[in-house]
Amino acid sequence: MSDEPQKQPSRLWSIPKARWRLGIPLGALLAFGLGAVALGTTNYVLHETSTTEFCFTCHSHEMFIKPEYEASSHFSNAAGVRAECADCHLPHDNWFELVWTKAVVSLDIIPEMRGKLDTAEKYESHRAEMAEAVWRQFKENDSKFCRSCHSFDAMNFEEQERQAARRHSRAAEQGKTCIDCHYGIVHAEPEGAGDILDRIDAEMTAETAD
Ligand code: HEC
Ligand code: HEC
Ligand code: HEC
Ligand code: HEC
Repeated sequence: MSDEPQKQPSRLWSIPKARWRLGIPLGALLAFGLGAVALGTTNYVLHETSTTEFCFTCHSHEMFIKPEYEASSHFSNAAGVRAECADCHLPHDNWFELVWTKAVVSLDIIPEMRGKLDTAEKYESHRAEMAEAVWRQFKENDSKFCRSCHSFDAMNFEEQERQAARRHSRAAEQGKTCIDCHYGIVHAEPEGAGDILDRIDAEMTAETAD
């Protein structure tokens, strides 16, 4: 075996040039075929990776996310409308934003494999910084994921508690967004939540003042 000279690669290079040119349309055809399959697969993958079950492959953690979510009014309520993880955490109105978000989220496989969140203690030690990332996102996009279900326009203020109605009718003109007043509604509120939210506000107003 070892003393046999390897002829295979050199034969490849001796194929006449004309035949190589066939490679161009052939390659195009192949690329087109692969593209079509890839697009179909992408939509399939996008769908499959938007389910709560998928999020639970990593975020199941019987001790935290799941029980907190299942105890929340967004899991079960009088109206029978359930908000899934993706409803509040993934964009719906923009295919490219969704693909980009998925690409970024898929990098979470690295900290996951390193066991960044694999115990309740570790989860708690990172909860505040993770919540902060979500709050920043919501403040920047005016809580648009909440507003895919709720809107001030659709609220019947007369049916709301006085305080809620008063706050909601003024929220828009005061430049307040849902997350400013409603946080920790699905997940336990991290320690010092109010201070973190104030700090984000201060940083954001400093940025726009520049
Ligand atoms: C491959 C495992 C894995 C899957 C699947 C996964 N996550 Fe995560 N997720 C992580 C890890 C690990 C972190 C912590 C990342 C960090 O802070 O370094 C995280 C962080 C987060 C955060 C905190 C904010 C942030 O950007 O750090 C949110 C929100 C989140 N995930 C939501 C989801 C949702 C919704 C799904 C389902 C669509 C999902 N995750 C699927 C592993 C995963
Ligand atoms: C998939 C649709 C959906 C999404 C997305 C959604 N909600 Fe809800 N929300 C509901 C439903 C349904 C109820 C229960 C209505 C009822 O029966 O009173 C509810 C109830 C509430 C309540 C009152 C009950 C409570 O827990 O205090 C608040 C406040 C609220 N949502 C805020 C938010 C905020 C903030 C967001 C974004 C982070 C959001 N919602 C995202 C559908 C949604
Ligand atoms: C300025 C503060 C503020 C803002 C901004 C705000 N809310 Fe509220 N909201 C309240 C208060 C206060 C209540 C009454 C107490 C409670 O349920 O938390 C309330 C109650 C609610 C309720 C329950 C109403 C009921 O009577 O059942 C829902 C749903 C809700 N808010 C959704 C939202 C959504 C969605 C947004 C963003 C579009 C939003 N809120 C923005 C202060 C606010
Ligand atoms: C009704 C909207 C809503 C739903 C449904 C929801 N989340 Fe969240 N999520 C939030 C908000 C808002 C935050 C920011 C922290 C807070 O206010 O609790 C957050 C924070 C997080 C964080 C950061 C760590 C923490 O505990 O705060 C992770 C991880 C996360 N969500 C994953 C999930 C997963 C997985 C699901 C599905 C089981 C889910 N979320 C369902 C709104 C939601």
